[in-house]
Amino acid sequence: MSISGHTIITGGSSGIGYALAEKLVRRGGRVSLIARDPARLQRARDDLLALGAAQNTVLVVAADVMDPRRLDQAVTECEDVAGEAGALIASAGIVCPKFFHEQPVEDFDRQIRTNLLGVANSVRAVYTRMRLRGHGRIMIVSSGAAFVGIPGYAAYCASKAALRAFASSLRLEAKPAGIQVSICFPPDTDTPQLQAELPLRPEAARLFMGGSKPWPADKVAERILAGMEAGKDEVNFGLLLTVLARTSPALEPLLQSLHLWRTAKTKTTDTNLTDGSQ
Ligand SMILES: NC(=O)c1ccc[n+]([C@@H]2O[C@H](COP(=O)([O-])OP(=O)(O)OC[C@H]3O[C@@H](n4cnc5c(N)ncnc54)[C@H](OP(=O)(O)O)[C@@H]3O)[C@@H](O)[C@H]2O)c1
Repeated sequence: MSISGHTIITGGSSGIGYALAEKLVRRGGRVSLIARDPARLQRARDDLLALGAAQNTVLVVAADVMDPRRLDQAVTECEDVAGEAGALIASAGIVCPKFFHEQPVEDFDRQIRTNLLGVANSVRAVYTRMRLRGHGRIMIVSSGAAFVGIPGYAAYCASKAALRAFASSLRLEAKPAGIQVSICFPPDTDTPQLQAELPLRPEAARLFMGGSKPWPADKVAERILAGMEAGKDEVNFGLLLTVLARTSPALEPLLQSLHLWRTAKTKTTDTNLTDGSQ
């Protein structure tokens, strides 16, 4: 079933969230974008209106997904103006790559609070209303980093893997209430987040992940919407991540052994592979 009507997108001012908004607007849908920075939100709105969208079809509301009360107010504001939301896409997320022993506790916690608790807060803000209406669609944006641990990404991987368990549990509760809960696991995607992240990515993580070309945000958004429309529980990207999605418990020990063997073999210095310093 196609996605029409009003969709709320957290993290809609940039990257994957913005690409989703653009696609929905081009189809004639109404979108509400939620993110923290009002100036960036306004720029996103201007860009969407420049595509020919009507003024009242693009709403932007500044809110932090870490603040459940504010998020609840934000969803109310969105629905008051643009009507009941048939779908939520929870795309807001952050990444701060650093080895665990070097990462300030605040940065570790902020990733968990934004990526995991921020999604739970976003879902909570729409969920009761969707339950009362007896329908709704929720798409959670996780990451391919949910499937296997990556050096330098302990908090990020933990937060994204936890989302899979969150979505699986919620789905069992939500389906009988008429609500579809989907989750997607994008690969490296060409967005402002990736541009900021790459210079901070520890060499060990590069070695572990290998070097594949990032996907365009537009293609990722297309696949996410197609997955939602097909009512998929999980949306994967590319052969490798699809295989990992299905087999990671069996494959991960092999990948870890291979990585540790390659690390030892290259006899790379601490600076390169064990400190995470750039
Ligand atoms: N790019 C990739 O390679 C990649 C790969 C896999 C998964 N992902 C996931 O895809 C999602 C989108 O990533 P992206 O690459 O599109 O990132 P992006 O371009 O940096 O966009 C992130 C969006 O989230 C918002 N945001 C961040 N923290 C927030 C908070 N606390 N409250 C409300 N909004 C917040 C940002 O706006 P403000 O900063 O103004 O709040 C922005 O709109 C994330 O969950 C990310 O983990 C990305």
